Amino acid sequence: MMAVKRLFLINGPNLNMLGKREPGTYGNASLADVVKLVKDTAWEYGYEVEEFQSNHEGDLVDQLHKADVQAAGVIMNPAAYTHTSIALRDAVSAISLPVVEVHISNIHARESFRHQSMLAPVSQGQIVGFGIDGYRLAALAIIKQIESEGRHER
Ligand code: DQA
Repeated sequence: MMAVKRLFLINGPNLNMLGKREPGTYGNASLADVVKLVKDTAWEYGYEVEEFQSNHEGDLVDQLHKADVQAAGVIMNPAAYTHTSIALRDAVSAISLPVVEVHISNIHARESFRHQSMLAPVSQGQIVGFGIDGYRLAALAIIKQIESEGRHER
């Protein structure tokens, strides 16, 4: 039997507030809209998506470890932990699957403390500044990466 092809979608702190939170910066779409967008995109390529959102750093670390066993790739918006978390960076380094980092806003055009990502150097790539469409682009990119490496059998 063909193994399930699965992506993990992981969102960090305050992203449960999408739609209500600073709409001028993050838009009006909700987290549920983001999840649907990623699921619809992935499903076109035969991938299912497990989604997870947490405001707690350690829970995000745990989810990355779980992804290593259950998924072929990760789409992750680490939110504010992007700029601070050595623990999340080490978790990305510890697992053996591609991670694409997404930011709704263009972090490089904002306050200087947002310019640095702890995770970017250990991620497959980073997509920023395209609003929630960045998640769709990330799904397309990671599926292409997984398929080209022939590593979707999980
Ligand atoms: C964000 C950018 C981060 O700097 C910020 O802390 C967030 C959201 C984004 O998606 O644009 O919470 O990750």
